[in-house]
Amino acid sequence: MSNQKKQSFSHDKIETNVGLLIVLSIVVILFAGLAQIVPLYFQHSTTAPVEGARPYEALHLVGRDIYIREGCVGCHSQQIRMLQSEVQRYGPYSLSGEFVYDRPFLWGSKRTGPDLARVGQRYSDDWHRVHLRNPRDVVKESNMPAYPWLQNNTVEGSDVQDRMNVLRTLGVPYTDEEIAKAPAQLAGKTEEDALVAYLQGLGVATRAAAQQAVTEGRR
Ligand code: HEC
Repeated sequence: MSNQKKQSFSHDKIETNVGLLIVLSIVVILFAGLAQIVPLYFQHSTTAPVEGARPYEALHLVGRDIYIREGCVGCHSQQIRMLQSEVQRYGPYSLSGEFVYDRPFLWGSKRTGPDLARVGQRYSDDWHRVHLRNPRDVVKESNMPAYPWLQNNTVEGSDVQDRMNVLRTLGVPYTDEEIAKAPAQLAGKTEEDALVAYLQGLGVATRAAAQQAVTEGRR
C-alpha cells in the first residue's frame, strides 16, 4: 500500500519533531522575508528619488542631526499613511522616493505629537522659534518639552563636511562645491536656526510629486 511506503520527508515527521519544526519554520520565514525585502532594493518606485527630492543642504543636515539628538522622533512620525483621514489632516501621503537621502530615515511610529512629514512652510519661522522655546506659549495644552538652549548653541565649526563626505560614500550626490561651501552656510547660525530650517523644508520640495501620485492613485 502506498501509505506504508517509507517516506523520507513526511508531514508526520515534521509535526512530531519540535526541533525540526522550529528549524523549518525559521527557514520558511527567512525565505518569505527575503522575498519581500530584497526586491525593494531594486524597484524603481522605492529607490529612485521623486521629483523635487534633493540632498539636504548643510544647515538642514545639521538641523536634522539636532532633531535626532533631541529625540523628536520619539514623539513625531514623518510618514503620512495612505488613509483619507491622514491625507486630509497632513497632506498627500508619503512616497518612499521622498526619503532616499534620509540616512537614517526618521519615519518613527510614535505619535504623541502630529506627523511632521509635511510641516514645512505650515508655520512661520518665528512660530517655530517661539514653539521650540516654550510650546505652551503657542499651544496652551501642549505637553511637548521646551528646547530653550538651542538658541544659545552655535553650529559653526561643526563636522558637517565629514558628514557630507560620509553620505557621499553612501550614494548621496553631493558635489565638491556643495561640500566646500558648507561651513559658510553655518556661519553665525544657532542650533535653533538649523532645526527651524530643517523643519521648514520637510515635505515641501516633493509635495507636488506626492500630490500627483495621490491624484493618480499611485503609491
Ligand atoms: C514628549 C513628546 C514630544 C517631543 C519629545 C517633541 N514633541 Fe513636538 N509636539 C508634541 C505635541 C504633543 C505636539 C502638539 C502640540 C503642540 O503643537 O505643541 C507637538 C507639536 C510639534 C510641532 C507642530 C506640529 C503641527 O503640525 O502643528 C512641531 C513642528 C514639533 N512638535 C517639533 C518638534 C521638534 C523639532 C522636537 C524635538 C526638538 C519635538 N517636537 C519634540 C510632542 C513632542
